[in-house]
Amino acid sequence: MSKHRALFAAAALAAPLVLAALPACAQQTNLRIFVGGQQRPDVMRKILDLYQSRTPGVQVEVEVGGATSDQQQQYLNTVLTSHDSAIDVMLIDVIRPAQFAAAGWAEPLDSYLGSERDAIMARYLPAYREANIVNGKVIALPYFADAQFLYYRTDLLEKYKLQPPKTWEELSAAAKTILAGEKNPNLRGFSTAGAPIEGTVCTFLVPMWGAGGQFLNAQGKPDVGTAAGKKALQLWTDLKASGVTPANLAEIVTDRIRVDFQSGNLLFAMQWGYAWNRFQNDGDSVVKGKTNVVPLPGFAGNQPATCIGGWQIAVSAYSKHKQAAVNLLKFLSSPEISKMQAILASHLPVFAEVYQDPEVLKVNPWFQFARNVVVTGRSRPVSPDYPEVSEIIRTNINAFLAGTRSAEQAIADMNTRLTRVYR
Ligand code: GLC
Repeated sequence: MSKHRALFAAAALAAPLVLAALPACAQQTNLRIFVGGQQRPDVMRKILDLYQSRTPGVQVEVEVGGATSDQQQQYLNTVLTSHDSAIDVMLIDVIRPAQFAAAGWAEPLDSYLGSERDAIMARYLPAYREANIVNGKVIALPYFADAQFLYYRTDLLEKYKLQPPKTWEELSAAAKTILAGEKNPNLRGFSTAGAPIEGTVCTFLVPMWGAGGQFLNAQGKPDVGTAAGKKALQLWTDLKASGVTPANLAEIVTDRIRVDFQSGNLLFAMQWGYAWNRFQNDGDSVVKGKTNVVPLPGFAGNQPATCIGGWQIAVSAYSKHKQAAVNLLKFLSSPEISKMQAILASHLPVFAEVYQDPEVLKVNPWFQFARNVVVTGRSRPVSPDYPEVSEIIRTNINAFLAGTRSAEQAIADMNTRLTRVYR
């Protein structure tokens, strides 16, 4: 029973006559928010408890679903295409606002934000402000930022007197030295996403951008068959051939990288921000105090790149409680909650100033440089057809990593099919 209802019931028992004086309080709004398993529903619950304590008459239930960005979206596709009003608010990946806007799934927020609209949007880091405004309309508000970093085992690098690698070449050499020295059959050198999931799009784009490539050429057409695209795939071929990556890289989903690293079986991991908190706090983590984070490596002579990620909060166009949902959004997308998430979940802030907060830096010392990584990171292609773009890239990269498609075939197939999407 809610606090409010409990009070109401107690009042009813003690003094039935007073009841008639309380009808306005009896109004109760129930909201439901959809969150993926990887976005710390436990932390969301704590945040919502705080909201409920400050907002009498509103109860928010958390619905958790989907272990990957794609699975979450599959679920939302079903709910939203059937115009189901059961979900009021949903977390959506940073790649999705354009798709949500085109499908009419997210309630545009402009009229709710009113005269505060521009001031509210101006507070966010530019990449997140831009990602959430589609054709001039505010489609969602940022919840947390994200980027991929290189996590590494400080104890093992120190043992072999090695510095954290700045290039992929150094990473490969360090991994070979340590794997040969450790002779631990469970230890793998480096892992990243390889399964046919959203994260695998970045497994291609990061080294392609890092080799100087662009997703679209000057004419706005996909351009992945360049020397940079080939160099990206050659990197994974070489790391696999030298036994640095796990043999089953084509099965690795995002959260599996975290599990492998925190059980002590990975030396280097290309992973998103949330993993840090899990490494430090999970009961089964054996890497607490033996982990550090640095920017991803690049190729010698080129600027390193990273993929921008992150999660946004949208109001369903089919919600029956839109104003209450927008009120909740404003709270969830505030500096106060960004700080709370940073401390409880190492979710990267969407506000520049939260990166500097001493309490945030105390638990996440690497946030010192993380803001710059986020600000200089690259966005995946922005398009209402992004689901198709993603599917073309991730299935080809997955087949290439599984060894069922050559690098040439994967690149040729991506180029042909992406060109059709961007015609
Ligand atoms: C993280 C990122 C998200 C990305 C996903 C891929 O959750 O925040 O943007 O798409 O990982 O696995």
